[in-house]
Amino acid sequence: MNPNKALWEKGDFTAIASFMRQSGEALVKSLGIAPPLRVLDLGCGDGTTAVPLALLGVDVVGIDIARNLVEAGNRRAAAMGLTRLTFQEGDACNLEGIGDHSFGLTLSVFGAMFAPRPFDAAREMVRVTRPGGRVVMGNWIPNDPTSFVSQLLKISSAFTPPPPEGFVSPMTWGVDTHIIERFGQAGVPRESISMVRDTYWFTAPDHSPAQVIDIFRRFYGPTMNAFEAADKSGTADQLHSQLVELAQAHNKGTDGGTSIGATFLRVTVSL
Ligand SMILES: C[S@@+](CC[C@H](N)C(=O)[O-])C[C@H]1O[C@@H](n2cnc3c(N)ncnc32)[C@H](O)[C@@H]1O
Repeated sequence: MNPNKALWEKGDFTAIASFMRQSGEALVKSLGIAPPLRVLDLGCGDGTTAVPLALLGVDVVGIDIARNLVEAGNRRAAAMGLTRLTFQEGDACNLEGIGDHSFGLTLSVFGAMFAPRPFDAAREMVRVTRPGGRVVMGNWIPNDPTSFVSQLLKISSAFTPPPPEGFVSPMTWGVDTHIIERFGQAGVPRESISMVRDTYWFTAPDHSPAQVIDIFRRFYGPTMNAFEAADKSGTADQLHSQLVELAQAHNKGTDGGTSIGATFLRVTVSL
């Protein structure tokens, strides 16, 4: 089994995605798009950005490596009557079956950054986007104290066995020099790439930060793996308290609820 696919099919990312809907809608709004347009949402999950894109009336294809998330996305599209939105399985490293220059916009929000071969992912995103179009990525930023998810992943990885040799950290997609090099190899000049810091909110008014961490523990592949390893080494309590502390420190929610802002790098590539 492809470990990248296994990681994301392991849990149920829809449980986490439910905290991210508001920022997904805001991000889509900020793209300033209108029909007619064909959009690829790569690493789309169950449609946090694909659904609001489709609600604008553009044609959307959501591609994701996780079968369970593709199925969940198609169920959401059917329930909402969104006939211009389809979800299908695929790998950002090799978008076989998708023709060159198929889309006016390729969006990937914390999606393609998790593909194991970043140069291939950059090349594929550029290949399937038409000249005059855009690739827009949202990427977590490594070692950034305001990037809640990168901190959560850093803590989780400290409890997980080291990755296999040759593994490229997804967090490298949050570093400008790597982004420039990867898109550069795909034929994009530096001047065509812009990067700005932005904030994504995890909003759960009915859950405390500790309850949010429990949901990550039960449903988010990387955190599930960390707890499995920590259980074996007897350090699960330590992992749990570090994650709860992190969520509490970042929480801006009131009345016992959770509202955590996480800094990310928004990358726009103009083709
Ligand atoms: C953090 S989730 C983000 C999902 C969605 N974009 C959102 O904002 O809710 C990462 C997503 O990337 C997908 N993914 C990971 N590696 C992938 C790959 N190689 N090709 C396509 N999708 C991938 C996962 O299955 C998962 O749905």
